[in-house]
Parts: sequence; structure tokens; C-alpha cells
Amino acid sequence: MRVLVVYYSRSGNVKKTAEKAAASRNADLLEIKDTVNRKGPVGYIKSGYHAVKKKSTPIGRIDTDISSYDRVVICGPVWAGTMASPVRTFLQKYKSQIREAEYMLLHASKDNNYDGIFEEMDVILGKTAVMRTSLSR
Ligand SMILES: Cc1cc2nc3c(=O)[nH]c(=O)nc-3n(C[C@H](O)[C@H](O)[C@H](O)COP(=O)(O)O)c2cc1C
Repeated sequence: MRVLVVYYSRSGNVKKTAEKAAASRNADLLEIKDTVNRKGPVGYIKSGYHAVKKKSTPIGRIDTDISSYDRVVICGPVWAGTMASPVRTFLQKYKSQIREAEYMLLHASKDNNYDGIFEEMDVILGKTAVMRTSLSR
């Protein structure tokens, strides 16, 4: 089975987890590149605002043929109780190329699994993910 691990990471946590997941599954790795400056406290606030408003902020161009993979593992951080904006953009833009989806969400909270975000991701994709992982870190 050909697996692609796709991730967006603002501050490195998701990157580390995605790299480990890709290595352990012998999968390819693809970064969702941000085109918005999210550095520092201003970037943090801007990101929270974009997330709350459910904005699809622009991402870098992707040349990988996503449809050639049997499964796509989508990894991203929780922002303001919802998905990070670049992940939302990725799902919207590439949903037609994703045959089978799996989700990995990282967040700071120890007592929330953010199941609602998985539901929202399914709605955007128009399919139900085969696996959902919620990690606190
Ligand atoms: C703008 C913003 C909003 C966040 N909101 C939440 C939140 O609502 N709940 C939560 O548990 N963590 C929240 N976090 C924490 C991140 O989900 C967590 O630090 C994650 O590991 C960051 O991944 P990264 O280092 O790959 O960017 C937020 C982080 C940012 C930058």
C-alpha cells in the first residue's frame, strides 16, 4: 500500500510526529507550505483569528500526484478549537485526489480529543477517514 503523510506545522511539533509516522510506515512525506507569516505573538493571534473564521489561507503549490497514493495521512495542529487554516485549504483543494484518508491532530490540551474537528474534516473531504488519532503535545 502506498502511503503519503501530509503535514502542516507552524512550530515543529507536527513536523516531528509526521516524520516519525512516515518513517514507521515506510511512507512518503509532504509538507503543506504556508504563505502567511505566522511568526511571533502577532502571527499567533492572526492564526487563531484565521482558524476561528474558518478561513482557507493560501498554501504553496503542490506538485506531488496525491491520487497515486492508496492512503493519505493528514497531520495538523489544533488552532482555536478547530483545524489549522492551511490544513483546511489543503483538504478543500485536494479532496478529489484523496482516495482514503487518515487523520492525526496534535494539540496542547490533555482533556480534549477534538472529535468535532475530525467530523468537520470528513465533511470537507466528503468521505469518512479510516483512522483518527488525537495526540496531546
Ligand atoms: C493559533 C494557535 C491556536 C491554538 N489553539 C489550540 C487549542 O484550541 N487547543 C489546543 O489544545 N491547542 C491549541 N494550540 C496548540 C497547538 O495545537 C499545539 O502547540 C501543536 O502541537 C502545535 O503544532 P506545531 O508545532 O506543529 O505547529 C494552538 C496553537 C496555535 C498556534
